[in-house]
Amino acid sequence: MILVTGGAGFIGGNFVLDWLAQSDEPVINVDKLTYAGNLDTLASLKDDARHIFVRADIGDKALISELLAKYQPRAVINFAAESHVDRSISGPGEFIQTNVVGTFNLLESVRGYWSDLAAEAKAAFRFLHVSTDEVYGSLASDDPAFTETKTYEPNSPYSASKAASDHLVRAWHHTYGLPVLTTNCSNNYGPYHFPEKLIPLVILNALAGKALPIYGDGQQIRDWLYVKDHCSAIRRVLEAGVVGETYNVGGWNEKPNLDVVHTICQMLDDRQPRSDGKAYAEQITYVTDRPGHDKRYAIDAGKLERELGWKPAETFETGIAKTVDWYLTHQDWVQNVTSGAYQNWIEQQYS
Ligand code: NAD
Ligand code: TYD
Repeated sequence: MILVTGGAGFIGGNFVLDWLAQSDEPVINVDKLTYAGNLDTLASLKDDARHIFVRADIGDKALISELLAKYQPRAVINFAAESHVDRSISGPGEFIQTNVVGTFNLLESVRGYWSDLAAEAKAAFRFLHVSTDEVYGSLASDDPAFTETKTYEPNSPYSASKAASDHLVRAWHHTYGLPVLTTNCSNNYGPYHFPEKLIPLVILNALAGKALPIYGDGQQIRDWLYVKDHCSAIRRVLEAGVVGETYNVGGWNEKPNLDVVHTICQMLDDRQPRSDGKAYAEQITYVTDRPGHDKRYAIDAGKLERELGWKPAETFETGIAKTVDWYLTHQDWVQNVTSGAYQNWIEQQYS
């Protein structure tokens, strides 16, 4: 079996669902269930014996060590993190705690478990760390896309904490021989995305008749990848990645934020027009820019394609259409995640 951390979050949840749709290999899903963790995402696995959910913090060394000893996974895939840049600006402490200290404790639990494995299981074991392109910093408009050799220049508390975790993972391989793999992925979007991030926030605000907040001039560029393509890349790296290597994952889809928002508005105009006949784009509102806002991210995913034969299946156009349709047809999930703590965040961030 495999052990996944953060599997009740956006990407981890999609990963667990996709994994069990394609394989009978069981998954132990370890998640603290912070505001971003949502068991509704995993509702279809409720009575599925292949899915074992444990509420736990990756930083709880004793409990994680116990779980590893009990279930003997052949791999650990670490999705667990605090993941939202704006939250890292208003409260960086949790980011250091989970992304840095938590990853350190997890590495130590895994190292203890792995050290005691028999030779064959030890050689086959993998620790796959899921990271972000934001560790590389911000690009000017004519800079080449990030390759795996780009220097780390993180600019936000979030990206700095992820960069620190990447360095720990690297060091645990170099020093202790732990068989690690690291993936650095661009911005994901798709089903079960918590609506604090741009794409789901815009879809839901548009439908609710609320403002569509654009930070600054909206010309910041992100490289978008449909979440299921990220999941297939992780499966491929787990299966065939070279131990100690890092792999960039991206969709070759660079888009300015404003274009992304206009595309979503157009799709909603076509699928669920406003009752007053006006365009959803009229709800676009320019708001104060994010402090230290990175201008451009772009991923060169060539290594993953050349060495492991992975390519994304979706273009931005096909992926965003699937995403908009998913939100339109999953109002129950939306209703559940947008109550309570979510409302407090929206008020604090946008008032
Ligand atoms: P998310 O915020 O939606 O989910 C994170 C999950 O981790 C939640 O279920 C949360 O409950 C859990 N968690 C948080 N702290 C924990 C702890 N201390 N112990 C156990 N569980 C904990 O994040 P996401 O968007 O799914 O991102 C998953 C991973 O992928 C993160 O490591 C993130 O840095 C990375 N990543 C995200 C993107 C993106 O666009 N979302 C892009 C590249 C990489
Ligand atoms: P986000 O989804 O938070 O991802 P990240 O900051 O990790 O790239 O934001 C994507 C882009 O959209 C980023 O440039 C910030 C911008 N943005 C807005 O313009 N308005 C918003 O309300 C949000 C949440 C993000």
